[in-house]
Amino acid sequence: MPVTSAIYAEPNSWRLSTYRAHGGYTGLEKARSMDRADIIEAVKAAGVRGRGGAGFPTGLKWSFLPPDDGGPRYLTVNCDESEPGTCKDIPMVMANPHMLIEGVAITSLAIRCTHAFIYIRGEVVHAYNRLLSAIKEAEDAGLLGDLRIIAHAGAGAYICGEETALLDSLEGLRGHPRLKPPFPAAEGLYARPTVINNAETIAQVAAVFHNSPEWYASMGTEKAKGYGLFNISGHVRRPGQYEAPFGITMRELLEMSGGIRAGHKLKFWSPGGSSTGLWTEEQLDVPLAYEEVLANGSMLGTRALQVFDDTVSVVRVVRKWTDFYQHESCGKCTPCREGTFWMKQIMRRLEAGKGREGDIDLLYDVAGNILGRSFCALGDASATPVRSAIEKFRDEFELGMTTPAAELFPHAASELT
Ligand code: NAI
Ligand code: SF4
Repeated sequence: MPVTSAIYAEPNSWRLSTYRAHGGYTGLEKARSMDRADIIEAVKAAGVRGRGGAGFPTGLKWSFLPPDDGGPRYLTVNCDESEPGTCKDIPMVMANPHMLIEGVAITSLAIRCTHAFIYIRGEVVHAYNRLLSAIKEAEDAGLLGDLRIIAHAGAGAYICGEETALLDSLEGLRGHPRLKPPFPAAEGLYARPTVINNAETIAQVAAVFHNSPEWYASMGTEKAKGYGLFNISGHVRRPGQYEAPFGITMRELLEMSGGIRAGHKLKFWSPGGSSTGLWTEEQLDVPLAYEEVLANGSMLGTRALQVFDDTVSVVRVVRKWTDFYQHESCGKCTPCREGTFWMKQIMRRLEAGKGREGDIDLLYDVAGNILGRSFCALGDASATPVRSAIEKFRDEFELGMTTPAAELFPHAASELT
């Protein structure tokens, strides 16, 4: 049963009246009658886990806050969605912003916070505006009590989606990842205890209180509870956002999205955005849940399932992702700052059919030197698809020594540039 997208198809689904007509804000009412500790226990019992990619248990994260000293404690919602292929949080804000706001209000009760921030990608002006008007609707209706929710529009740097860079950015600084520990729970925004969660995660909190932790925990797999938003893009007949229980397979999702476009076959796909390995037919039956995906050598990430058919050059796709990471690298640490630059140079040569002797091994080696040696997850994210592509499609990289990708895959060249 869809949870987050249940009202997407209703007329004016984003309005307070529509949300309330479907039981909206009854969860907040319920939470108001509970102790803070019981709210956290309910989220733990439901088994909600972080939807931004890492899958960290949400209730556990909240319980890491130090004992209350009476000073400020903050909630920060990460809605700076930027991973290539990812489009789950922004459509949710457009179609169902009150579910997020209700989740923010419940979480704020649980952690005793009176100022909550929603950091949203600034380029998506329509989503920012929708969020602002939904917050105003909730305030005007007296639903938020003494809680102030501040929507903050980011300035378009991918690194500000990294939780500590996001905090720097909110504080008015240039977004650079901070050393952890201390984790934000202990020392976050303005050096005060801070809970930071992804927007979809916080919306799930509202769902738990609309129903019950038991109801929530009855969906999904043993360790990945609930329904998740899966984004399917690329060469399928009906790309878009699909809400499905964790543990669904790509084979099933391909069926839901109409399958690969006519006359073509699947070449590869990404299980979770551009930061994961490249998967093929062989992984179509892997349950899409955190541990199951990890056991098959990748991360579930943001559930951005990008599908590429046989017209596509692997070298070109990975080169474009490498360009992205090189552009977005914040430059704080050497392996990522220099490594992404060198990967980009080599990838460009290989794409142009002008590879030099030893280039493929050099590329593999540079990526290997970024992995595990970077300050934040962006470095690993840049190297993972490169290594995976060489491991699975080395023959295509070999062809790149002499033949431009545009000649090998003329159709994809016009489509993907
Ligand atoms: P992480 O595994 O380092 O941390 C997960 C969360 O748990 C963080 O909030 C962290 O503060 C908290 N945490 C972990 N250990 C803790 C402890 N001992 N005490 C207190 N808190 C603790 O993961 P990270 O670096 O936050 O996120 C990486 C993920 O982000 C990747 O899985 C990637 O898929 C995803 N991602 C999502 C993007 C998007 O657009 N949504 C973009 C890029 C990456
Ligand atoms: Fe910055 Fe990249 Fe280092 Fe992260 S890994 S701190 S993005 S240079």
